[in-house]
Amino acid sequence: MSKKVRLGVIGAGSFSNSHLMGIKYSDSAEAVAICDINEGSARKQAEKYNIPDYYTDYRELLKRDDIDAVTLPLPDQLHRKVTVDALHAGKHVLCEKPMALNLEDCRAMIKASRESGKQLMVGQIGRYTPAFIMAKKMVEDGEIGELFFVESEYAHDYSKIGGRGGWRITPERHPVIGGGCHAVDLLRMIAGNPTEVFAYANNKVLTDWPIDDCTVAVMKFPGNVVGKVMTSIGCKRKYTMRTVLYGSKGTIIVDNTSPTLSLFKEEFSQMDEFKERNQQTIELKLPVAINNHNFQAEVEDFCRCIMEGRQVTTDGVEGASTVAVCLAIVESAHKEEKVKVSYDF
Ligand SMILES: NC(=O)c1ccc[n+]([C@@H]2O[C@H](COP(=O)([O-])OP(=O)(O)OC[C@H]3O[C@@H](n4cnc5c(N)ncnc54)[C@H](O)[C@@H]3O)[C@@H](O)[C@H]2O)c1
Repeated sequence: MSKKVRLGVIGAGSFSNSHLMGIKYSDSAEAVAICDINEGSARKQAEKYNIPDYYTDYRELLKRDDIDAVTLPLPDQLHRKVTVDALHAGKHVLCEKPMALNLEDCRAMIKASRESGKQLMVGQIGRYTPAFIMAKKMVEDGEIGELFFVESEYAHDYSKIGGRGGWRITPERHPVIGGGCHAVDLLRMIAGNPTEVFAYANNKVLTDWPIDDCTVAVMKFPGNVVGKVMTSIGCKRKYTMRTVLYGSKGTIIVDNTSPTLSLFKEEFSQMDEFKERNQQTIELKLPVAINNHNFQAEVEDFCRCIMEGRQVTTDGVEGASTVAVCLAIVESAHKEEKVKVSYDF
């Protein structure tokens, strides 16, 4: 293998720009080919990012021996088919989130990775957001004591982002799976795998979409930690993934679109300058880089794992586990009853 992982990018739509920019600035990756069924899009991105070759049929791209791996900024409905084909063609795969829209597809993708011996990574990009990495480390270091409640919201106005051909506007691409997966994945990363969920949903804003646009789920995490995830794709506000982590000794408020992380700690209010004022817990605002789509770090991690022969962290089982929680939330909101989550992959 050359010093860089030679990548094919399949999909030249909106989010391919994040892939191509991230690859451009990565030390370990190089985009050598791009593909889109829309020839104009493939050509345009090839010219814009100086990529030598473009295709309109991904199977042609997969035939090339000089391509080590592919990234897939493709409609969610295509993740299974193209991932499985790519793995069977001997390519490592970095598939966009959500891994797939149902567990049967997730299982087929995991199986193809195991059979081919090639790596499958799912692009849960929140794992590379500096503020979330900092929050996770603080929790692990015991900064806020024992967790008792974790909540995250995925509030993102989708009224103008249906995807090319409207692939986001279908019942099967439920907003909790498509977008809420970021918030679910973040809480899983910090608090582990929820065992049980209960959710309510409504559709009050994007009333011409065939799907609920707001869902609120509560869930049980290991160690008797309670959790909550809100997903809204009709909300009228700036995109946010505001997340609050409550511990016995402090609280963290963190958002991928805020330049600061807030840390509240009981011990701050015991300091001499605050003690006499009998103040409640003091807030410490720590600066963080806003980088909510840090694809550069994501693709760098993927390529380093390939080059060094290490297993990727967000592998098929991780991606599928997040999908499993999202599906349980959708099922619970539909049935209006508790749903247990199983992780048999
Ligand atoms: N990580 C994130 O935060 C994030 C953000 C946005 C989108 N995404 C994900 O990225 C993926 C792509 O989203 P998008 O916004 O770029 O969608 P998009 O609709 O803008 O682009 C998808 C592209 O795929 C092309 N395509 C369709 N079928 C194809 C095929 N068979 N072969 C090759 N190309 C084909 C379409 O022509 C289109 O250009 C989705 O999975 C989405 O969920 C992730």
